[in-house]
Amino acid sequence: LISVPPVQLGINYFNMFPEEKDPLWQNPCDYKRHIAIWSANKSCERLPRFLVVGPQKTGTTALYTFLSMHPAVVSNYDSATTFEEVQFFNGNNYYKGIDWYMEFFPVPQNSTGTYLFEKSATYFDHEIVPQRVSSLLPRAKIICILIDPAKRAYSWYQHQRAHKDPVALNYSFNAVLMADERMPRQVRDLRNRCLDPGMYAQHLMHWLDYFPARQLFIIDGEQLRNNPIHVMHKLQQFIHIQPYFDYSQHLRFDPQKGFFCQVMNDNRNKCLGRGKGRMYDAMDETSATFLRHFYRKHNANLSKLLNKLNFPVPSWLQDALADDN
Ligand code: A3P
Repeated sequence: LISVPPVQLGINYFNMFPEEKDPLWQNPCDYKRHIAIWSANKSCERLPRFLVVGPQKTGTTALYTFLSMHPAVVSNYDSATTFEEVQFFNGNNYYKGIDWYMEFFPVPQNSTGTYLFEKSATYFDHEIVPQRVSSLLPRAKIICILIDPAKRAYSWYQHQRAHKDPVALNYSFNAVLMADERMPRQVRDLRNRCLDPGMYAQHLMHWLDYFPARQLFIIDGEQLRNNPIHVMHKLQQFIHIQPYFDYSQHLRFDPQKGFFCQVMNDNRNKCLGRGKGRMYDAMDETSATFLRHFYRKHNANLSKLLNKLNFPVPSWLQDALADDN
């Protein structure tokens, strides 16, 4: 038997099979041989049962906060680099491996009665993510939130302004939307970050390539904003969370914030921070018209897809399609 040192062996192997260079992590607990060689102090339970995948600016923080209020639902520990989001399945964190990912989750005391979850709003529109998630968490439920993509685009632009992004500060929303090849790359990048996540049907199709529709739950973001008690009721039913948590006792509308907030006591609510539910000027008419045209085809595709899957069509989508006729 002829061999070479292990590192050289690895190099030789990947020279022969370059397509295998990019890892695709699977759950070690799904394979007897893997469990057999796994350290005894590792636990298969330290992985999420459901994921809130975004997209950004649709109310993901509100949903994360409401879910975390449930006594049986437990999120990941905070990440020092990405605030509360782990952002494992997109970007470079994936290469840190599944031990790195599992460290973000507690070992549940009672594995059937604890519902671990993770919210990373950037997962929704990254093409590589659905395959990676299905490989590691094939039975996970996937939750996404959809609002009018035009509103989402504007909310992202306002978010970037609030974060002092020089491009968003120096260019109007309309200038960003109109950016073509003659404009600096940073302006085109911002345009893409405003527009691309809102092509909902296209992104959902990627998820459906790897997950059966029954594992997908789509929340109408307008409903999450205006009637979160109902949304949390439906979501608990979908995930089969036990015990049932009656959100009507724990959420109420806060007139000052203009959103639903967590009830602390008779007189006090705890609302999301100033960065969520921002005050800004209404969108200008030219941008609104542009976005209506831009998303027409994408919204029509979304409506077809939801009908085909027998999923409810959000009222904002019905309105957008009615406006187009
Ligand atoms: P705006 O700040 O543009 O109004 P995300 O958490 O995904 O970044 O989404 C932020 C958006 O969540 C906010 O966008 C706001 O409209 C929406 N939202 C929905 N329910 C909310 C709530 N209860 N409190 C605050 N914001 C909420």
